[in-house]
Amino acid sequence: MTEGIGAAQFPRAELRRASDRETERQHLRAELDRLWARGRDVLGCDLAIMGGAMTWVSERNLVAAISNAGGFGVIASGSMSPQLLSAEIDATTALTRRPFGVNLITLHPQLLELIEVCAEHRVGHVVLAGGLPSSAAVRAIKRSGARVLCFAPSLGFARKLVRMGADAIVIEGSEAGGHIGPVSTGVLAQEILPHLTEVPVFVAGGIGRGEAILAYLEMGASGVQLGTRFVCAHESIAHPRFKQAFIRAAARDAVASVQLDPRFPVIPVRALANAATERFVAMQRRIIDRCARGELSQGEAQLEIEHFWAGALRRSVIDGDIEGGSLMAGQSVGFVTREQSTAEIIEELVSQALAVLAAREVMQQRQLVSREILPGSPAPADV
Ligand SMILES: Cc1cc2nc3c(=O)[nH]c(=O)nc-3n(C[C@H](O)[C@H](O)[C@H](O)COP(=O)(O)O)c2cc1C
Repeated sequence: MTEGIGAAQFPRAELRRASDRETERQHLRAELDRLWARGRDVLGCDLAIMGGAMTWVSERNLVAAISNAGGFGVIASGSMSPQLLSAEIDATTALTRRPFGVNLITLHPQLLELIEVCAEHRVGHVVLAGGLPSSAAVRAIKRSGARVLCFAPSLGFARKLVRMGADAIVIEGSEAGGHIGPVSTGVLAQEILPHLTEVPVFVAGGIGRGEAILAYLEMGASGVQLGTRFVCAHESIAHPRFKQAFIRAAARDAVASVQLDPRFPVIPVRALANAATERFVAMQRRIIDRCARGELSQGEAQLEIEHFWAGALRRSVIDGDIEGGSLMAGQSVGFVTREQSTAEIIEELVSQALAVLAAREVMQQRQLVSREILPGSPAPADV
């Protein structure tokens, strides 16, 4: 009999606990939403998590998946022609009704035509990458009604970009995958977040878990941008061998490109070390020697060095040539341990951030209780 009553009551108690857990999660989500409210507002999405544009990887499927999961997907236009970009925007629109953006490289010879394509398709957000954009480019985007997001490598640049009309700034540290600057994410965040309050700032580079997202939000960021973590999403079209290389790699395997001689500058790129990385160093040595012997001019030598990686990202991402191509990856590659759906990756990041908030609440409640039990014990602020 007793057993019968217990069995009948058990599901109700379970239900109550589940509903308590849901109420608690909603309460914590409200706190997270408060922290990234400006980021959500400027992007127009639920979670201020941008999927950083990755050439060849961030195409319709991954971009739509990120936006459908509540984040903000960004198409990487790379070296696309205006016609290709137009088709990619159409295809992405067919896969999601949520907002997404387009990343344009400022050095692209047809930048203004690409901006025009975004305007024709009423793209709501354009991210300008690859150097300080011209005011003409920023003006053209703003005329179309879209928001402009720009990368800033320092506080001075960030202020200049805001004066030019940037609606949000992305700061990306050297832990990131792909082309990188010299300063780490943590230092850039300290340099810029306390001082740049006019527009929302998104932090990128080396973010692999939700705890880090929360930490940057609490430092004043309005959102974050992640690239590496999304490469092995089910929806990413990256070649299975490219994904396997990410899954096998540790943080230390994602290294910045080596420059042998400052007279022959190398564009810094962070990628997984492979056979091509070694060949690149050997090639630089050969070129520098030939230049010293007068067989090549400095300009010719520089061109050969720059040409080395041409088409290399496509070779690895699309063709799966993981020894001959470029395996651009950030140090957060160490957090990529398996293929997951995009929704699962985003859910995991959010849950990790919420877990920190939950643990903090428990700690605060314990402190309150102990002050009631032991009057005169120090208040949290005194500790
Ligand atoms: C394979 C790969 C390709 C990338 N291509 C681009 C690109 O075309 N344009 C761009 O602005 N950033 C590019 N990035 C940088 C990402 O957009 C993002 O800012 C960066 O990955 C964030 O750092 P994380 O890798 O540590 O998450 C690329 C990154 C990777 C890993």
